[in-house]
Amino acid sequence: MSQPFADPPRHTPRCMLVTGGAGFIGSNFVRLLLRERPGLRLINYDALTYAGNLRSIADLDGHDGYLFVRGDICETERVAALLREQRVDTIVHFAAESHVDRSILAGAEFVRTNVVGTQSLLDAALQVGVERFVQVSTDEVYGSLGPEGRFTEETPLQPNSPYSASKAGADLLCRAAFHTHGFPVVITRCSNNYGPYQFPEKLIPLMIMRALADEALPVYGDGMNVRDWIHVEDHAAAVLAAAERGRPGEVYNIGADNEWPNIEIVRLILRSLGKPESLIRFVKDRPGHDRRYAIDSAKARRELSWAPRISFEEGIARTIAWYREHGDWLSSIITGEYREYYEKNYAHKMQA
Ligand code: NAD
Ligand code: DAU
Repeated sequence: MSQPFADPPRHTPRCMLVTGGAGFIGSNFVRLLLRERPGLRLINYDALTYAGNLRSIADLDGHDGYLFVRGDICETERVAALLREQRVDTIVHFAAESHVDRSILAGAEFVRTNVVGTQSLLDAALQVGVERFVQVSTDEVYGSLGPEGRFTEETPLQPNSPYSASKAGADLLCRAAFHTHGFPVVITRCSNNYGPYQFPEKLIPLMIMRALADEALPVYGDGMNVRDWIHVEDHAAAVLAAAERGRPGEVYNIGADNEWPNIEIVRLILRSLGKPESLIRFVKDRPGHDRRYAIDSAKARRELSWAPRISFEEGIARTIAWYREHGDWLSSIITGEYREYYEKNYAHKMQA
């Protein structure tokens, strides 16, 4: 990929701490940085929860200027020491509990990681001082839309799930750090991501994996909930733009103007894999299921000189091919923990 931005950066990171860089978006972000920003020193700090996977970053081992550290964002003193030792000037914060269904089954871990963890990281960064802190957030903090309209940065926060409420809490703590301490935080709020290395609890990889195995595809409710999809590499480029060009204290919505009802995504996956629609099972709905998300990303496009580059047609074809070719990665994830979660989340829904 060539240099993606037209205007000069306002901030040039020299040493960046990326939290959650063994997860889906974080690993794609780290890979983008190593490709696009040679000379940048990079520390990938990740607790390796069920969602973090060393296989997703195995190809990065030994790369110049790259260091992986296993650790928890809640350990303020340890993070502060690392920031000091490594002379970190920029933090990009992806680490989170990220799955809505898991937050419905058990919310406490979401408060610990997303709320307490974000404040712990802010405390460490405030102690040591950094030049930029990017809080990677989500459009879900805005709640749910009816058939018309899109989320802007001025849309009130109305989170509906324990996951989105914990992300909104984290965003407000970041806002408070800016207002109280003048701490240079930039917040990004992105729509639904898809692409390689996404944990197969989320819609697209789950449906691809199950269709490949000729297993039933559980579609919640009437399948007409709408999500606004963006390729993970376009999101990663937007986060980098926010780190380099975002104004402290500002929020930037990130999206690719690409709304789809869930059932249409599922049909598209089945068609692409040559599998029959008889695999679809409409199951009991997700409690509190947000009906529609759609994001207005005009501000990010204008102020960050960023725009998505990957069409959905190309992105979804590449994604389906990736999962087809990475059966080893998928099977490394289908552990006892995964099976237990799947049973807990879906067994009662299937009886609908
Ligand atoms: P993910 O679940 O794939 O990865 C999360 C990563 O964070 C994992 O590697 C995990 O090990 C790590 N982690 C969890 N708790 C930690 C802790 N206490 N300390 C250190 N590391 C910890 O998540 P994702 O889908 O890549 O999402 C990354 C971020 O982007 C999240 O903050 C999420 O809210 C946000 N986001 C996601 C999407 C999406 O569509 N997936 C869209 C918008 C925003
Ligand atoms: O909008 C950004 C958010 O997108 C991120 O902040 C979250 O981290 C990410 O998980 C995602 O949240 P969603 O709840 O929208 O994603 P998920 O893939 O879980 O579900 C997408 C849609 O598909 C949603 O309407 C629920 C539906 N669905 C999901 C699963 C897992 C099903 O119909 N069946 C399923 O089995």
